[in-house]
Amino acid sequence: MTARKLRVMLRTMSAKDLSIIILAAGMGTRMQSSLPKVMHPLAHKPLINHVIDTAAQLKPKKIIVVVGPDMPALENAVKPHTTVIQTNRLGTGDALKQALPALKNFKGTVMVLYGDTPLIQAPTLKALHKRHLAKDNPAVTVLGMTPPDPYGYGRLILKSGDILDRIVEQKDANASEAAVTLCNTGLYCIDGKGIQDWAAKITNKNAQKEYYITDLPQIAAKDKRLTAVIHCDYEQVLGVNTRAQLAELEMIFQNEKRATFMEKGVTMQDPSTVYFAADTKIASDVTIEPNVFFGAGVAISKGCHIKAFSHIEGANIAQNVTIGPFARIRPDTQIGENAKIGNFVEIKKSKIGKGSKINHLAYVGDTQMGKDVNFGCGGITANYDGNKKSQTTIEDGVMIGSNATLIAPVKIEKEAFIAAGSTITKKVSKDALGIARARQSEKKGWAKTHCAKKK
Ligand code: UD1
Ligand code: CA
Repeated sequence: MTARKLRVMLRTMSAKDLSIIILAAGMGTRMQSSLPKVMHPLAHKPLINHVIDTAAQLKPKKIIVVVGPDMPALENAVKPHTTVIQTNRLGTGDALKQALPALKNFKGTVMVLYGDTPLIQAPTLKALHKRHLAKDNPAVTVLGMTPPDPYGYGRLILKSGDILDRIVEQKDANASEAAVTLCNTGLYCIDGKGIQDWAAKITNKNAQKEYYITDLPQIAAKDKRLTAVIHCDYEQVLGVNTRAQLAELEMIFQNEKRATFMEKGVTMQDPSTVYFAADTKIASDVTIEPNVFFGAGVAISKGCHIKAFSHIEGANIAQNVTIGPFARIRPDTQIGENAKIGNFVEIKKSKIGKGSKINHLAYVGDTQMGKDVNFGCGGITANYDGNKKSQTTIEDGVMIGSNATLIAPVKIEKEAFIAAGSTITKKVSKDALGIARARQSEKKGWAKTHCAKKK
């Protein structure tokens, strides 16, 4: 067998033999929120979904999320993955125990992650798993870190090399243990063949009267099994306990996104003012001017130019489109190649055809617009009658004059022309002029006599 074949085989084998438990039962009181902590968004995606999406990259057999009671929104957000409820928050060891019935006959590796550490990366988790599968067959493999301030973390007390003796919590540590700088991230791989047995032996005899998952190494040692340690960059395991920490993580995440996009060929004059969502897709040779904000669900194709102060969410933008400055593109919008969306234009739930221009001060909502349409300055699709939303159809090559109001439902057929200032309530046929405004009249000398009276 070639080395490559062996690697592929090992990878697929180990993936099948991996299950992942994510601890997320904490309400996060310091967030001062009615939303469970892990439901708070980072780059428009809940913290828990960052962890789940990273976990999913390891292709585990099962992902089990431990949640608190009365967290229906959280249970919903993790679907289709399994959730188990931890009724009383008795510690990380207790949280682990709640998940184990769902892994009853599972003999592979059990990986434990936290729902509130969203920056963890798949390669780190793969390295943890790989170390766990090494020949010395550890019972537990711990992910360690050396944070700038170790206060509050469990300390990893090593035996020799990368082999651990024990984990000591801050509150249980003596002076020499507290002086250790190598800390526990709280992320582990645990041998599924022993986990049920070892977890059952966790007690709460410690300073906090909590069930500690960190007792597992010493419990497994009684079965003559060892615990290994690997290291990771502490920034990847920063947790969220407060809104200030959430903002810090958002900054780290945004900076990574900005750097990644620039590497992939996106130009930004002031990247620190451009905000991306976790799922933003941007092709190469796109230019993004300062102060642009991307909400969830945006894909921008090659060659587009997004001008300053634009706000874009839920939109698919084809090649070579210009947007902004000061444009607002709202969800369910598709914009065709070479289209131009100018300043103070809002578009919602609409499809804009190739080469169409909506250049200034317009609202386009619930609209199907063909190609090469010119939608004049100040134009509005009046889509809402206070009760329901209606559709506007504008076919290819239509010219909508300035300040026209199209009262939906309405259709403007191919190549038709709408006179400026018209209020259009009925269909306008192909090649016709639609004009609906008061006819202009002129009263000769009126102004002169009017002004004379005033004097
Ligand atoms: C834990 C570790 C500590 C490590 C630290 C890293 C233990 C005993 N200690 O500390 O060694 O340095 O993480 O951050 O494990 N959770 C539940 N149910 C519970 C308790 C916790 O789901 O009953 C979840 C929390 O929501 C959180 C995670 O587990 O996502 C960690 O809990 P937390 O209380 O922050 O851990 P510590 O005890 O501070
Ligand atoms: Ca903690």
